[in-house]
Amino acid sequence: MHAQVRIGLIGAGGIGRHLAWQLRPLSEARLVGVYDVNAELSAQAAAELETEVFASLDALLQSPAVDAVIIATPPHTHHELGVQALQHGKHVFCEKPLALTVADCDAMLHAAQAAQRVLMAGQVLRLFPLFWQSKQWLQAGVIGAPVAIHLQRRGYEINLFREGWRADPQQSGGVLLEMNVHELDYLRWLLGEFRVVAAQGAQPYPTPNFTQQWSALLQFENGVVGSVEVSIIDHLGGYLVRIVGTEGTIEHTGFSGAARYKRLGEPEVSLTPEEIGAPEPYLWELRSFIRAILYNETPPFDGYDGRMAVANAHAVLQAIGAKA
Ligand SMILES: NC(=O)c1ccc[n+]([C@@H]2O[C@H](COP(=O)([O-])OP(=O)(O)OC[C@H]3O[C@@H](n4cnc5c(N)ncnc54)[C@H](O)[C@@H]3O)[C@@H](O)[C@H]2O)c1
Repeated sequence: MHAQVRIGLIGAGGIGRHLAWQLRPLSEARLVGVYDVNAELSAQAAAELETEVFASLDALLQSPAVDAVIIATPPHTHHELGVQALQHGKHVFCEKPLALTVADCDAMLHAAQAAQRVLMAGQVLRLFPLFWQSKQWLQAGVIGAPVAIHLQRRGYEINLFREGWRADPQQSGGVLLEMNVHELDYLRWLLGEFRVVAAQGAQPYPTPNFTQQWSALLQFENGVVGSVEVSIIDHLGGYLVRIVGTEGTIEHTGFSGAARYKRLGEPEVSLTPEEIGAPEPYLWELRSFIRAILYNETPPFDGYDGRMAVANAHAVLQAIGAKA
């Protein structure tokens, strides 16, 4: 029999259950149980996922039958759950944002280092086909040297942020931490470290009580200039990334549509997600987590990447002059 990582799921809400389903085809992983503060939901999820219920967090963390945990709870709980799990010797896959403050992220990284366990943050955006493809092209040099990047994420998503823990900036961190750690991580992965030159934000509606529209100018250490615009109140919506280089331009449209590039005097190259044919992103990230544990393989992103996404979200908030 080959090695297997036995996983406990903490938090059986939307993404927790989705991640648990993704474990199914992985022969090197097995879901051994689930714990949610909502006991009814724990029981439901356990039945759906054909696994056991852990009656308490302690029962899960102290179980010798659990090698690793998936933390899929609201952001304000990640730090404490993560540190506790690591101190109990469990490997940790933690949903984004890794934590709500940089200090809490650092405490998690230290706990992982002290326990010699894997800590991975769920910065899955990198693995969505068009995002992944843009990086492959950039790395292959199809547009020469990158000069500028523009990213726009717009949608009418405000109602999602008016419900439950997402509406409370103390629990979710607001749009920057709850959602845009994805974009900030993707930008850093593409082009390296950056600083926020200037940013502005708007909160036209009283609820949720945090920034609902923001834009920022970025300066990358490699000289690339960037701009980001995000809206959760835009009725037309749309996702657009454009990377301008010395020899061509890459563009993609986010979660659907196409990724394409054009070089001077050459026909445009365009790929849809289906043509790219990458694995299901959540399956891919979990498989990477498992293989980091079993074979010490380097995952496509780690706890430090999660920490930097949180740090950059705070840099934007600071430039805006907003708390969330
Ligand atoms: N990577 C992605 O694409 C993606 C998508 C959705 C959500 N997320 C992230 O996943 C996390 C959860 O989001 P969701 O949409 O699944 O939320 P959700 O509200 O659907 O589920 C959260 C669950 O956690 C449980 N919970 C709360 N505190 C707990 C605790 N201390 N211990 C155990 N269980 C606890 C709740 O009862 C709930 O069932 C968030 O950090 C969110 O940002 C990531």
